[in-house]
Amino acid sequence: GGEDQEAPALSQAELKKQSMQEVRRSLPIFPYREDLLAAIHEHQILVIEGETGSGKTTQIPQYLLEDGYTKGGMKIGCTQPRRVAAMSVAARVAEEMSVKLGNEVGYSIRFEDCTSERTVLKYMTDGMLLREFLTEPDLASYSVIIIDEAHERTLHTDILFGLIKDIARFRPDLKVLVASATLDTERFSCFFDDAPVFRIPGRRFPVDIFYTKAPEADYLEACVVSVLQIHVTQSPGDILVFLTGQEEIEACCELLQERCRRLGSKIAELLVLPIYANLPSDMQAKIFNPTPPGARKVVVATNIAETSLTIDGIIYVIDPGFCKQKSYNARTGMESLIVTPCSRASANQRAGRAGRVAAGKCFRLYTAWAFKHEMEETTVPEIQRTNLGNVVLLLKSLGINDLIHFDFMDPPPHETLVLALEQLYALGALNHLGELTKLGRRMAELPVDPMLSKMILASEQYKCSEEVLTIAAMLSVNNSIFYRPKDKVVHADNARMNFVVPGGDHLVLLNVYTQSGHSTQWCYENFIQFRSMRRARDVRDQLEGLMDRIEVEVVSSQEDSVPIRRSRSGYFYHTARLSKGGYKTVKHQQTVYVHPNSSLFEEQPRWLIYHELVFTTKEFMRQVIEIESSWLLEVAPHYYKSKELEDSSSKKMPRKQGKTKEELG
Ligand code: CDP
Ligand code: MG
Repeated sequence: GGEDQEAPALSQAELKKQSMQEVRRSLPIFPYREDLLAAIHEHQILVIEGETGSGKTTQIPQYLLEDGYTKGGMKIGCTQPRRVAAMSVAARVAEEMSVKLGNEVGYSIRFEDCTSERTVLKYMTDGMLLREFLTEPDLASYSVIIIDEAHERTLHTDILFGLIKDIARFRPDLKVLVASATLDTERFSCFFDDAPVFRIPGRRFPVDIFYTKAPEADYLEACVVSVLQIHVTQSPGDILVFLTGQEEIEACCELLQERCRRLGSKIAELLVLPIYANLPSDMQAKIFNPTPPGARKVVVATNIAETSLTIDGIIYVIDPGFCKQKSYNARTGMESLIVTPCSRASANQRAGRAGRVAAGKCFRLYTAWAFKHEMEETTVPEIQRTNLGNVVLLLKSLGINDLIHFDFMDPPPHETLVLALEQLYALGALNHLGELTKLGRRMAELPVDPMLSKMILASEQYKCSEEVLTIAAMLSVNNSIFYRPKDKVVHADNARMNFVVPGGDHLVLLNVYTQSGHSTQWCYENFIQFRSMRRARDVRDQLEGLMDRIEVEVVSSQEDSVPIRRSRSGYFYHTARLSKGGYKTVKHQQTVYVHPNSSLFEEQPRWLIYHELVFTTKEFMRQVIEIESSWLLEVAPHYYKSKELEDSSSKKMPRKQGKTKEELG
């Protein structure tokens, strides 16, 4: 082909650049460029409201740069609640500016820093900016901070509101922009001492909304059917489907591909593209590619596509009306992810995605009655339904002691705050006066959950930090280590069995990491996800790099699992004891079960520590490890009474007769 002929390639690049500039000028925000810059000049804090896709995230930082806000090496920071958005938006802006990603334009997300000395436009997750306060409490290197997607009200964004409002008082030169979709902007204005609201009028085409007559029994199946119906009966235009998470999205994509294969040439080409947080970035980029003529694209997304990402060409939206939400029980301290009906505000944002380029249609897979009566008006801010351990530790290390009077836009429930303080005290991060201890200061240095940092720090004492770092890294890649394709389930399960070692899932993960040569070939043969392994290795490298700073020597326990399991006792909140038919959490006597995928599913040891709970058909413990109850007294004498830990023998119950894993499904 002509790819290797230099002259045309060059002019092609020129052409691309030109057309990109045209696209920039065609965005709804462009006519307001001067007014916006004038308003920013005039006010220290400005709330910016604009329809999704109007150009807030990609254009405002560039306008500011063009207007001189990065003179003298000052940076413009823009926060995103989602990792995927931070990465993809930074890539887009780098492209528009014809620079290499990571040079002038970069992004920073947990465990991945794609910035350099030259970076002046920095996109980052809200959590990363929060961590920057630890090293630069007044954010002195920034001239502008944009808190983007403010309406998402993530925990980290809410905390940023309070911190940034505070530093803006003694840094009059700092500009603060709070950008949001068309939701709730009056509240932001009110919180920031009546900051003015700059509205970017959207171009919106009408969207027809259709409801189902009766509730759907299986919304996944209903989605698949709806997609195919639209594809066969409706005029051209791409489809966007909202599901709740990776597993559902993968299942939906598989079903769609399967049915299209069966229909073969009877239907036009349907491109099925997934998008969710853990999807590798090269796959993510695919959703933005223009649809070839004659074909139709269907993007199956989490609520990431609600406001953080804009996909051009969407005419049809399918909305089953659910999302996955964290919920937290402050009485028991149990956190779980559950699929719940989304809010009406969410549903309306979703519908709006259909009307960006032309008149569109939104198919709601629920009844009009459900919309009115079963959905909440707005989503409850995350701060009111999550464990606050992490954030409290961070605020304490920023010297903010009085958390009760912190400037929250919506304060967390009192019990949640108290429980977080109690847990940090139990972990030894706070003393009895609620002040940060030396241990707490070290824990705050690690960008992980307080219990995980405690585990890493405890590994020093038990001389197994080498192994514990690996386990921490493997745990952080989100249960996506083992590959289990539908057509090779038996092979995959056999491969998995080969990694089983006594003691529990954490040791299995360690074994996988140790055995893997990190080669694609090895991963392929052993049904291990190569990308997850690569990510685990990156995370491990990063964590190891931090060990120096918190003065933990990296040493190995030389294949002895006891020290590893002992340092795991840092998770003493997550202890369960075998009882009739299942397990009971030690403190709160909640009934929980070992996940069928666990290596200890059949063994059923008496005492367990679990990494997390997931609620599907029942409350399952994911990633469990066997411990001895006496260890709990050793690591948390202030938390457990020996009476609670009676019958501390580690002898196993006789193996249960009867049902096997397969029979239980
Ligand atoms: O932030 P807001 O929702 O207002 O819009 P944006 O993210 O700045 O997107 C503006 C436009 O840039 C979108 O309508 C897309 O046309 C384009 N865009 C893109 O093509 N690829 C991306 N990764 C991001 C944006
Ligand atoms: Mg945006």
